[in-house]
Amino acid sequence: MIDLLGDSSLVQVNGLTITVTLGVVAISLALWTMVRPRNFPPGPRGLPIVGSLFSLNDNLEKIFTGWIKQYGDIFGFKLGEHWMVVLNHQEIIKEALLKQSVQFAGRPRSPSAEWMTDGYKDIAFGMYGETWKLHRKLGHTSLRHFATGEALQKLLSTTFPKLEVEVAKTAGKPVDPKNIISLLLNNVLSEMCFGKRFEMHDPKVLEFIKLNDEMNAEIGMGFPEDVFSILQYVPYKKRDIIRGFMNKIKELVIEQIGDHKETHTQGEVTDIYHLLLDAQEKAMAEDSNMEKLSDEHLLWTIMDIFSAGIQTSTDTLYWALALMTEHPEIADRVRKEIDDVIGGDRIPVIEDRGSLPYAEATLYEVLRYSSIAPILLPHATTCDTTLRGHAIPKGTTVMMNVYSMHFDPREWKDPENFCPEHFLAENGKVRDHPPSFLPFGAGRRVCLGEAVAKADLFLIFTWFMQNYTFSKVPGKESESLTNMIPMSAAGRLLVPYEIMINKRE
Ligand code: HEM
Repeated sequence: MIDLLGDSSLVQVNGLTITVTLGVVAISLALWTMVRPRNFPPGPRGLPIVGSLFSLNDNLEKIFTGWIKQYGDIFGFKLGEHWMVVLNHQEIIKEALLKQSVQFAGRPRSPSAEWMTDGYKDIAFGMYGETWKLHRKLGHTSLRHFATGEALQKLLSTTFPKLEVEVAKTAGKPVDPKNIISLLLNNVLSEMCFGKRFEMHDPKVLEFIKLNDEMNAEIGMGFPEDVFSILQYVPYKKRDIIRGFMNKIKELVIEQIGDHKETHTQGEVTDIYHLLLDAQEKAMAEDSNMEKLSDEHLLWTIMDIFSAGIQTSTDTLYWALALMTEHPEIADRVRKEIDDVIGGDRIPVIEDRGSLPYAEATLYEVLRYSSIAPILLPHATTCDTTLRGHAIPKGTTVMMNVYSMHFDPREWKDPENFCPEHFLAENGKVRDHPPSFLPFGAGRRVCLGEAVAKADLFLIFTWFMQNYTFSKVPGKESESLTNMIPMSAAGRLLVPYEIMINKRE
């Protein structure tokens, strides 16, 4: 009789078999993670399980520039659990955003976006669907009412004098202009959204600015749970820190909303939040759409408008002042045009837009050259689709690499250099819609605040140029002002800098 338990060689064989089988299964599973979906765009193979994670070791737009050369204008890769597609070149990006607008109108589901927006309740990360459509429409109506034309002009004309006082305090001293720009935009957005004005140095305003900056710095390249969803159950410090920032920002906004709800009277709409409350009350009266207009949804819509309105315009103007300091000859030409057309006795108005082509072209060039959102916000396919013969399954994350459009040597004369002439036609007028320029995106997900931002930027930029000159800090003339924060998922943001702001006579 064979003593099974006592036969150590048999136990060893069994152990070996199990180990080999497990090894084969593990390797097969690992290799299986690399199998590309059928007809998926070409791209880097990556490693088993992690995909191309370790190749993403620089700013995405830089890495993608290399991959375009290897794989062409449409490529795909895997990041952890997720397949991603990157679209490059204006024709392909527009084909997706405009010709297949619904197919590419989704946002990727990701654990971080979910916890950051209480379950995708905001507009920017909201899933393409009825709730999102309703809030976008409300956002549009609100911005048209309170953020364009005369309303915007009035707001700025009362804010500029306050700003002048702030700038005067910095005379003769090096200054980081970011706070000054944020204070201005914060004041304007607070009035639009909540009907409130703040003192320029209100501690709440300064805290909001600081929180946003700190949060952007902390986000870095993103969150591990967006690469492997299982990691959402593993606690780690960065998530807690960002959660803390988000909660504080929310608290600050709730504080600004104050007693709006208690004091709201149907039909009396004096700011954006009252407009949202009006829609909510109407829905209650009609007993429709109530679940889409919960207090939480309203909070997220106002947070999106308030935060996006301040941050993006601040970052763009921060680039603008850095570039005007780096290129004094361009700045002088902008000033001369403003002096000739507007003079020094009145502030710029929206109607000046057509008469200041060089200033306008300079601002567009700032938007191109800075490309603060180089891959827009990530999109996702809402259904299985094909683009230029490649299959892109439903739910795939799609990055629209507008940086590749803005720096495409096939489309621009001298893309690597800051050159306002890129936006001037031969007749000296501003070029109408250059084909390779989409700083606000296009189609269903186009920036909600595009018109507001363009007006804001024009009025604020020309006011700064009309009233001030900028120079480098004495002794630091050789230091560049356009260094970017490396590897930031928050966009192409500048490393903080200081300049001298000098009042013009
Ligand atoms: C220089 C200023 C601005 C730039 C460069 C900018 C750029 C962008 C970009 C690239 C997107 C993503 C588009 C996409 O995913 O396809 C976006 C979305 C958005 N922007 Fe702006 N933006 C600016 C100002 C504003 C302002 C002033 C507001 C509001 C007052 C605003 C509100 C939004 C919102 C709510 C979205 C999300 C839209 C959606 O997902 O449906 N933005 N913006």
